[in-house]
Amino acid sequence: MLKGKDLLSIHDLSVDEVAEILALAKELKAKQKAGVGHALLKGKTLGMIFEKASTRTRVSFETGMYQLGGQALFLSSHELQIGRGEPIKDTARVLSRYLDGIMIRTFAHADVVELAEWADVPVINALTDLLHPCQVLTDLFTMQERLGANLRGRKVAYIGDGNNMANSLMYGCAKTGIHFLAATPAGYEPDAAVVKNARDDAKETGATISLTHDVAEAAKDADVLYTDVWTSMGEEAERAQRRHDLAGYQINRELLSAAVPQALVMHCLPAHRGEEITADVFEANADVIFDEAENRLHTQKAIMALTMAD
Ligand code: CP
Ligand code: NVA
Repeated sequence: MLKGKDLLSIHDLSVDEVAEILALAKELKAKQKAGVGHALLKGKTLGMIFEKASTRTRVSFETGMYQLGGQALFLSSHELQIGRGEPIKDTARVLSRYLDGIMIRTFAHADVVELAEWADVPVINALTDLLHPCQVLTDLFTMQERLGANLRGRKVAYIGDGNNMANSLMYGCAKTGIHFLAATPAGYEPDAAVVKNARDDAKETGATISLTHDVAEAAKDADVLYTDVWTSMGEEAERAQRRHDLAGYQINRELLSAAVPQALVMHCLPAHRGEEITADVFEANADVIFDEAENRLHTQKAIMALTMAD
């Protein structure tokens, strides 16, 4: 279903395609753990364009490609001609002549859309200012491992800045029938167009998408509490203002007591202890948080195999 397609946003995927990615992630994880070969992308090359820093994304895509029998090229935008002004549409057409897939992490979502329009090979969004779909597909897979394959009717509360993670998590919940609630300060709400699209998507699955400024209301009866940094990459100049405005939009012990007793606490990492999450809550939930990090590998292998295999 996904063969030859781009993965720019979970909104673009059908409900079945999301399920297919999650099922293959499970299968590939089991194979990797059992030492069973799965060279689905033998001889293929993925180009990885990075305009922002990364630990998890870079290492998991590169290792994942190797485990699938292919190779990955790390392409820093500072060292590509793109950094000197070569147009995206030319870069896309050149790279398509060499590569079997392109992964990109950058600032403007429109740049990824343009790259995908001009590229003849699948383009995978590895984070923009608007969305981080690979992370959220991983998070859904991690929720399935903990809560069971059927996530319909579960409640996910997102606490903090209404950023790329909040936007993508909203799309992910809409496609899997999860009740999503975001608690952000006024002025830090998720993207309005994403909210509208997610509410449309939710009609198909029975999901609901709600926004509030009240953290306790969001956390009430939540199965999953999710947070992300208050200051994302590219927003460093606003750090002091954001620390002021987002104070209180934190996952801490008091907030956890409003959730269900076994609620999962999730974080895409990197984390800023003392800002969006307290150190004690982070460490008490390190098991699931580092499972999320590991699962980037398995989920992205599924994405690459489904979009790039012959
Ligand atoms: N979660 C995530 O995308 O991490 P990196 O920024 O380290 O890639
Ligand atoms: N919102 C964060 C996510 C990092 C994985 C950022 O964009 O920096």
